[in-house]
Amino acid sequence: MKVNEQKLNEIVEKAISDLAAGYGGVMVALGDKLGLYRAMAGQGPLSSTEVAKLAGCAERYVREWLNSQAAAGYVVYHPSSETYELTPEQAMVLANEDSPLFLPPAWEVPASMWFDEEKTIEAFRTGRGIGWDEHNPRLYRGVAAFYRNAYQGQLVSDWLPALENGTEKLNAGAKIADVGCGHGHSTIIMAEAFPGSRFWGFDIHPDSIEAARANAKKRGVGDRVTFEVADAKNYPAQGFDLICFFDCLHDMGDPVGAARHAREALSPNGSIMLVEPYANDRVEDNLNSIGRLYYSASTTLCCAHSLSEEGMALGAQAGEKKLTKVLKEAGFWTIRAAKKTPFNLIVEAQP
Ligand SMILES: C[S@@+](CC[C@H](N)C(=O)[O-])C[C@H]1O[C@@H](n2cnc3c(N)ncnc32)[C@H](O)[C@@H]1O
Repeated sequence: MKVNEQKLNEIVEKAISDLAAGYGGVMVALGDKLGLYRAMAGQGPLSSTEVAKLAGCAERYVREWLNSQAAAGYVVYHPSSETYELTPEQAMVLANEDSPLFLPPAWEVPASMWFDEEKTIEAFRTGRGIGWDEHNPRLYRGVAAFYRNAYQGQLVSDWLPALENGTEKLNAGAKIADVGCGHGHSTIIMAEAFPGSRFWGFDIHPDSIEAARANAKKRGVGDRVTFEVADAKNYPAQGFDLICFFDCLHDMGDPVGAARHAREALSPNGSIMLVEPYANDRVEDNLNSIGRLYYSASTTLCCAHSLSEEGMALGAQAGEKKLTKVLKEAGFWTIRAAKKTPFNLIVEAQP
């Protein structure tokens, strides 16, 4: 078969750029963990000696690392003074841990995927699932830290107000469940914003529940938040006014069963809020960087976990149409997309 030179060059260029990004992820993790980005933030142009001194690291390593960052476009290099600068925009993504755009912890996720490669190869061959609890622990830290910032930036200010009476309900004092709560950041952020409401977080992963309890204590909301190990289909149905699923319904083996249990656990005027990875309904409309990221995570994490349970394997790119079908099967009839962001689809449903 004849090879088209131009097309070949394009794919090679793309593959090399992706490979460089893979190497670069290790550099980002180093920059975060060694405090190099934080040392540079707000300082203007610095020599490699100054960066090394501020971060307490060896200059020769730091100089090489700085050049990798300049090549990545993550710091600016000034050739005339041989100095390096982290701009305010770069600091928002790389240095400021409270910024909703802070990305370094996200690299813990592919790090865990590499650790688990053998398990994934085996799973592809046998079709068996891989439970959430079977992964390298870097996964849990990465997911929790990455999502925490998005929730901190948007949950109370944008997502809850997009629900019908969402903010009013929580201000008035409501009972809220956070199903598949992981390390509990979403639960805790809501508990901080709505001190008159009562919150329950449920997850099947005992280590995550332990981390969630520790986080609640650290953030001083232990009086109004309870975290329990429980499956999405059997936590106590105690008349919740709002039941939330943050990035987890598609992970479940039986999302219809989980949504049905939620319906039965609601108070008469209660509703559920699904926060799912943003996706269009058709594969061909998800073929972009975000789709690539989510389909990849979905292959090794989301589908793998679902297959370890009942195995519906909706996938992280299910899209509104398939999610609506799941909710209808579970007995929800008023369903609407309350909000769409480049990363998330927020769906509200009532029986
Ligand atoms: C991608 S993580 C999301 C965690 C958290 N909601 C967040 O946004 O950071 C998916 C979570 O769903 C939980 N999960 C999966 N299947 C579950 C089930 N059947 N019942 C309860 N939790 C489940 C996992 O243990 C995991 O903590």
